[in-house]
Amino acid sequence: MLSGWEPHIPLIDFMCGSGTIPIEAALIAAKIPPGTFRKSFAFEKWLDFDEELFKLIREKQLERIVESEVKIYANELNRYVFLKAIENVESAGVEDMVKLSCGDFRDFEHEEKRAFIVINPPYGEKLEVDDLEKLYAALGERLKHHYAGCKAWIFTGSPEGAKAIGLRPNRKMKLFNGPLECRLLGYDLFEGKKSERYLKNQPIEESQKKERVRILKMLLKKNKFFSLFIFC
Ligand SMILES: C[S@@+](CC[C@H](N)C(=O)[O-])C[C@H]1O[C@@H](n2cnc3c(N)ncnc32)[C@H](O)[C@@H]1O
Repeated sequence: MLSGWEPHIPLIDFMCGSGTIPIEAALIAAKIPPGTFRKSFAFEKWLDFDEELFKLIREKQLERIVESEVKIYANELNRYVFLKAIENVESAGVEDMVKLSCGDFRDFEHEEKRAFIVINPPYGEKLEVDDLEKLYAALGERLKHHYAGCKAWIFTGSPEGAKAIGLRPNRKMKLFNGPLECRLLGYDLFEGKKSERYLKNQPIEESQKKERVRILKMLLKKNKFFSLFIFC
């Protein structure tokens, strides 16, 4: 949600792991309430659980579901993890909206001119620093040369990796994944150099300011304490 993605824009996660980001996006697009496909919830065992009220709320929420034309692409390198993503996409009931593929992100092809790339690359627990930096550098190269015209958001807990991407983010947010301090980095991808963009008269500064105000307002609304962690 922080990325500002909207369902009319194709979404790509070419390091999707078990599929959290694509599944969440599909649920948002079709207005499917989280947990819809769960058979039961722990709170149903509470002494004061009101079954009638729960049924009513559930029915009202299900009435809001829409058929979505959203295009979501999810790719994963590890075959075992990829099978888990298929299973998760199917059990969330969003298989019509999520196109899954298995392979290296460098080989991932798409036909979208304007897309949102939202990825959560490995942080490095299982990788040597050198390999991690190479992976992030390849990621930066790929974004620069194959995704011009798109927006990318990278969520990472690796400062070395973030540096190795080699692109300057126009938005940065400090977030926590459990106790681990992470960064959500936003990039407007374009061909050539930034200075050439100014020459083409594209008012990026104004749009960046608006984007920061939008995100700040959203965070303040959600959680005042959380917004203290933002820096732009
Ligand atoms: C931090 S995990 C992503 C977690 C994911 N958001 C989820 O919901 O499970 C990073 C993923 O990137 C995958 N990956 C690593 N190198 C890759 C590559 N070269 N191409 C595609 N995926 C890769 C890993 O297998 C791993 O599943």
